[in-house]
Amino acid sequence: MVDSLKILITGGAGYIGSHACVVAAEAGYEPVVLDSLINSNPIAIQRVGDIIGEKPVLEVGDVNDRAFLDQVFKRHQFAAVIHMAGLKAVGESTEQALRYYSNNVGGAMALCEAMAAHGVGNLIFSSSATVYGDAAEMPVSEAAPRSATNPYGMSKLMVEHILEDQVKADQHTQQHFWNIACLRYFNPVGAHPSGKIGEDPRNIPNNLAPYIAQVAVGKREQVSVFGDTYTTIDGTGVRDYIHVMDLVDGHIAALNYLLKRESGFSAWNLGTGKGYSVLQMIAAFEAACGKPIPHQIMDKRSGDIAECWADASKALSDLGWRATRDLEEMVADAWRWQENNPDGFGQ
Ligand SMILES: NC(=O)c1ccc[n+]([C@@H]2O[C@H](COP(=O)([O-])OP(=O)(O)OC[C@H]3O[C@@H](n4cnc5c(N)ncnc54)[C@H](O)[C@@H]3O)[C@@H](O)[C@H]2O)c1
Repeated sequence: MVDSLKILITGGAGYIGSHACVVAAEAGYEPVVLDSLINSNPIAIQRVGDIIGEKPVLEVGDVNDRAFLDQVFKRHQFAAVIHMAGLKAVGESTEQALRYYSNNVGGAMALCEAMAAHGVGNLIFSSSATVYGDAAEMPVSEAAPRSATNPYGMSKLMVEHILEDQVKADQHTQQHFWNIACLRYFNPVGAHPSGKIGEDPRNIPNNLAPYIAQVAVGKREQVSVFGDTYTTIDGTGVRDYIHVMDLVDGHIAALNYLLKRESGFSAWNLGTGKGYSVLQMIAAFEAACGKPIPHQIMDKRSGDIAECWADASKALSDLGWRATRDLEEMVADAWRWQENNPDGFGQ
């Protein structure tokens, strides 16, 4: 019997993936997680089980391992794949370029080959606003020119191009097999409101929100604010922060859309359409946790852009999806997770 509601979530033990498992299950899908656990902890999957009442199946292995993928696709019949597995640290990617291309680009290709071999054509790919490079106009729409300033961003851009070409090749040959969405995430923050799952960086956090949360909980001394002379509201960098629950809701909207469409390629921005500065983020966290967050202004970092926020109107018109949670809710949920789990899932 075709188990039409099973969804494979690669990278599903990670920050965004664990939240995606929750909303997928709540929307009536059965999430199956494939993860190498290179940047995650299997306890996250247990906690997902606590939230949804049933622990998702976890297939531990590498998305680059084609023989392993074949076994997984033989064991389960998937209606669609959400491909989140990947390495994501921009700084690290500049020092380990080959590893990033091999993991992120090689992984996507191995996955697509396995999908084709097993007759699964519906794919959602975790892309990023980083594919817009240093965008000239704000808000940035899906039609903006794409470029990359580091190997991580380039790996996302390369996968987008590969997937686009795959769909074009399909159309040339009248196959109508591939049905693909690239979701360009802005800056996911926050956690599930239960406080049971959240972002659990292994080393020094690369992103602002978990860094602030770790300072708030006393694990780190102070937040470094890189630059206060940008032409923004207060001189510090402005980004479009989106609650991780809104972000994963966007995946369900995209999934529902794909399952009604035969084939094609689409890209959607998942952002709120509103930007906040670093100092505004710090102030919001201070309000949530009721204590001051020590921070220090440092020099600008090379490669950082002044501001970036999404034109999120395409996702609203095509998918009927929009972010609904505000900054207060993002930081309250991030803080609840951090306060309840000062050591994350415990390494
Ligand atoms: N968090 C962000 O700010 C952000 C922004 C834009 C895009 N993204 C993308 O979203 C996806 C999920 O990000 P996240 O923040 O949840 O990161 P994460 O590191 O928490 O999750 C990624 C998961 O993928 C797994 N993984 C990595 N390489 C793998 C491989 N070769 N085989 C199997 N599993 C592998 C890791 O163990 C981890 O569980 C990534 O592709 C990331 O690039 C994240």
